[in-house]
Amino acid sequence: MQPLAAGGVSWPLYTASVVAALLVTAVVLRLAARSTAAKARPPAGSLGWPLVGETLQFISAAYSSRPESFVEKRCLRYGKVFRSHLWGSPAVVSADAEASRAVLQTDASAFVPWYPRSLMELMGESSILVLGGALQRRVHGLAGAFFKSPELKARVTADMRGRLAAAMDAWRAAGDGAAVRVQDEAKSIVFRILVRALIGLEQGQEMNYLRQQFHIFIAGLISLPIKLPGTQLYRSLKAKKRMTSLIQKIIQEKRKDPCAASCDLIDVLMSNGSDELSLTDELISDNMIDFMIPAEDSVPVLITLAIKYLSECPLALQQLEEENMELKRQKSDVGETLEWTDYMSLTFTQHVITETLRMGNIISGIMRKAVRDVEVKGQNGVVIPKGWCVLVYFRSVHLDANVYDNPYAFNPWRWKERDMTVTTASSGGSFTPFGGGQRLCPGLDLARLQASIFLHHLVTNFMWVAQGDVVVNFPTVRLKRGMPIKVTPKT
Ligand code: HEM
Repeated sequence: MQPLAAGGVSWPLYTASVVAALLVTAVVLRLAARSTAAKARPPAGSLGWPLVGETLQFISAAYSSRPESFVEKRCLRYGKVFRSHLWGSPAVVSADAEASRAVLQTDASAFVPWYPRSLMELMGESSILVLGGALQRRVHGLAGAFFKSPELKARVTADMRGRLAAAMDAWRAAGDGAAVRVQDEAKSIVFRILVRALIGLEQGQEMNYLRQQFHIFIAGLISLPIKLPGTQLYRSLKAKKRMTSLIQKIIQEKRKDPCAASCDLIDVLMSNGSDELSLTDELISDNMIDFMIPAEDSVPVLITLAIKYLSECPLALQQLEEENMELKRQKSDVGETLEWTDYMSLTFTQHVITETLRMGNIISGIMRKAVRDVEVKGQNGVVIPKGWCVLVYFRSVHLDANVYDNPYAFNPWRWKERDMTVTTASSGGSFTPFGGGQRLCPGLDLARLQASIFLHHLVTNFMWVAQGDVVVNFPTVRLKRGMPIKVTPKT
């Protein structure tokens, strides 16, 4: 495997010398605005059919067992940055680590978020995923600080342990060989824990109602952008309205009787609005719904994929089990309960999670729209013209044989020599499961923590036999049958 930073840019190393900085600017990636449209030169490629462009070819590849084949074919023909036409917009697609890093790191004066219309409609204007400028930075900063706080991590750890213990008691009661669908169990546990952290809702009828409405909402995220009664988008918008009412009722109650400490994310956002950047009730409730997406989708899928890959790699499973059993033994010898820091200290477990993120590509890429002409690769490079969208396709980079040796093999040991918390910047754009730049996922620590806790309690308490399943990659990544396993308690 090539080193992670190979071909990438380690910016801080160059800041010491202006000359070096100029050289770097000349030879590697440069991201500079071009003011005149006449200079704009989008990369080679094809815009496909009128109106639909190449969207159907993209989707048909996305449904196949090799979603990256759409991009792969065009990379061979045109290079790793090429032109296309997707979701109704001319687009530049990047499967190049340096170009992807540049797009992620660039500021909002060059790009704004851009998603298919149904998604934009459902998320609403005040969603953090759509917001730009000072308001996005404010919500991102407050949410990021809350998600990273040791208090929240300790609370999530205790919650997760409690819920896992209850679920595992039920598996034991079902006897040896009990059938468990990992994906369903992970969704049910993670959703409830994160929703409690977000809006303070406890287990009960309202939680069940919210989850039921959320399922209707999420089904419309990638749907036809038609808002007529009977369509999925219409049903999803109605479900969002019902969820908004519930969350706004919670906000009203909190306004009457504020929590002294910042108990949940609503408290944090409510107490930090200022006149210039007021965080309205509508903005807060809209964002709470968006923040539930990773709770129902990304984190449970990360857990499920890790268990699938481990089931197919006995050596990795054995090493993970040994590491976790050792920690359990050490803690029980001194009569201590595991803290969140203990779970996060497990080096090999973190490598397993990192490798799962690389191979699983839970978020296969992100889209932006250029608000001006943006040059992406040196003077002889390509330009993303104003008004075009750019698809930064993480999946192709994560599965590129020039970046990762034997990229389709699950190999947690490949991360041995690297920083456990490898970031977009430190990887030179070759490892970006959580995005990068000012929109770097603020929940990344929490995602890793929840996956570590789930894996720890599963491997230290049960053995399992996987029943066989396949990964579906579109419209979202998931296991087709929910990853059924048969579990037997360890004696
Ligand atoms: C395996 C789990 C997760 C993955 C793979 C993931 C991935 C990502 C990616 C790729 C982005 C960047 C989107 C962009 O640039 O447009 C992002 C943003 C975001 N993520 Fe996550 N995420 C995960 C878990 C979480 C969790 C647990 C939370 C919090 C509950 C969270 C909250 C957010 C938010 C609020 C943003 C938007 C940030 C902004 O635009 O300023 N994510 N995530």
